[in-house]
Amino acid sequence: MTNKIRYFIANWKMYGDLGSLKSIKNVIKFSRLSKSKKFKIIYCPPYTLLSDFVDTLKKSSIETGAQNIHENYDFGAHTGFINSKMLKNLGVKYVIIGHSENRTLGEDHKQINKKILSAIKSKLNVIFCIGETSFQRKNKKTNIILKKQIMNGLKGIGKKCKIIVAYEPVWSIGTGVVPNNLELEKNIKFIKSIISKKFNNYKILYGGSVSPNNIKRLNMIDLLDGYLIGGASQSSKKLIDIIKKTFN
Ligand code: PGA
Repeated sequence: MTNKIRYFIANWKMYGDLGSLKSIKNVIKFSRLSKSKKFKIIYCPPYTLLSDFVDTLKKSSIETGAQNIHENYDFGAHTGFINSKMLKNLGVKYVIIGHSENRTLGEDHKQINKKILSAIKSKLNVIFCIGETSFQRKNKKTNIILKKQIMNGLKGIGKKCKIIVAYEPVWSIGTGVVPNNLELEKNIKFIKSIISKKFNNYKILYGGSVSPNNIKRLNMIDLLDGYLIGGASQSSKKLIDIIKKTFN
């Protein structure tokens, strides 16, 4: 494994309540004791917990991200939504955009692009999710889909912007099925070949059923800068285990 910083981004989805804050105390302690190790933990809890997370994590090196934003940068009459400025104001540093669970609900390339532009304008770090469905994979459309998602999602974004791309095959999310290293490496290489032409500063993560059981195998892929972790990240024990197994 190379010496670069590894990202562990915890996507809590629609899980967690005030009681869950207790469990992250263990992760704070762990990250303090592992100062010499090169990693970054980012928690993306639901909106209702963002403020508490920012507050609880304030004195640690762990940062907070949100799971989505409204596409409009300006304030407006959008009942139930939140814009990038509101997150920035709260002390949030990151935002996940383009997650397949939102694409499935109808979020299109244009909206995703607007969301990314808005996030950048608010100086939030973007975690941009891409990935093919199992149908697209079966029909050998993976490269076409990934390229389309990247080119449309990142349209008009300056070369100097920092971007985190999370490759999440839709068929891998929450299923326990993870692509084999050969396939994963091939897709990551393809993503890198496009992203590296567009940006100077980028990270490429993998997401989809990452767990303490498969992390050693995933870590063999040197091109990866880290992971976007859903289910397993809600357990502080599993998250710590994943990080420990990355460095031992
Ligand atoms: P999972 O979710 O780890 O539960 O598969 C990952 C994600 O959706 O970001």
